[in-house]
Amino acid sequence: MDKQIIVQTKRLTKHFPVGGGQFTALRDINLTFSKGEFTGVVGPSGSGKTTLLNIIGSLDAPSEGSVTVLGKPVEALTHKQAADLRCRHLGFIFQTYNLLPVYTVYENVEFPLLLLDLSAKEREEAVLQAVESVGLMPKLKSRPAQLSGGECQRVAIARAMVKKPAIVLADEPTANLDAENSHHILQTMEKLNTKFQTTFIFSTHDDKVIQYLRRKITLEDGEVAEDQEAGIRDQEEEG
Ligand SMILES: Nc1ncnc2c1ncn2[C@@H]1O[C@H](COP(=O)(O)OP(=O)(O)OP(=O)(O)O)[C@@H](O)[C@H]1O
Ligand SMILES: [Mg+2]
Repeated sequence: MDKQIIVQTKRLTKHFPVGGGQFTALRDINLTFSKGEFTGVVGPSGSGKTTLLNIIGSLDAPSEGSVTVLGKPVEALTHKQAADLRCRHLGFIFQTYNLLPVYTVYENVEFPLLLLDLSAKEREEAVLQAVESVGLMPKLKSRPAQLSGGECQRVAIARAMVKKPAIVLADEPTANLDAENSHHILQTMEKLNTKFQTTFIFSTHDDKVIQYLRRKITLEDGEVAEDQEAGIRDQEEEG
């Protein structure tokens, strides 16, 4: 069965200016991601994982080559078009959660919806469903400082998922978590991936989460060293 292509990079190369010259962080990356994938990007520090996710997320532009996200060439988007793509179709999860400290769980999760044209009632339903899906209804009125790291990351997942984006990009989502919370986060992401067919692309260093990957892309010095189906765990009941 042909799967819908969600993201495609062609000869993607990224140079950063350093000193008088330039540093090549990504070189000739050709990757295709399909709808519903659950893919981890691994590789040593400095291999280009964050740079790749930022470009797929239209937070940064390629120096050469092309990146197509949901049929749109990212390098050709205006600032406003890129912002629109991010706000409607992409969810982001960061290593350090990036929650707004003065806002409650409810308000943090609601935040991305304020940019969309929804009624207050539609927002409320979406927020409650997202918070429920990460198991944090009892913490709805808590603020980030009153939550554990694992709970903060679950709020960040709810915030990324609340608009039911086509793609969730997560940069080292478990880097600050202990083993138990890391497993919980991956299980939550896996559940949402299966339920909504959201494409998850995340970077990780974390051996504990490798077992959850269905596809593992290994970067080395800005190049794809390996791209393999992983699927160690049982996926049969899916679909
Ligand atoms: N804005 C920038 N200017 C110059 N060099 C940069 C910039 N951003 C990243 N780099 C360089 O590009 C390379 C890849 O960086 P990147 O952050 O993508 O690595 P990473 O694989 O995410 O590493 P880590 O596992 O440590 O997060 C690194 O050598 C980094 O120093
Ligand atoms: Mg990184």
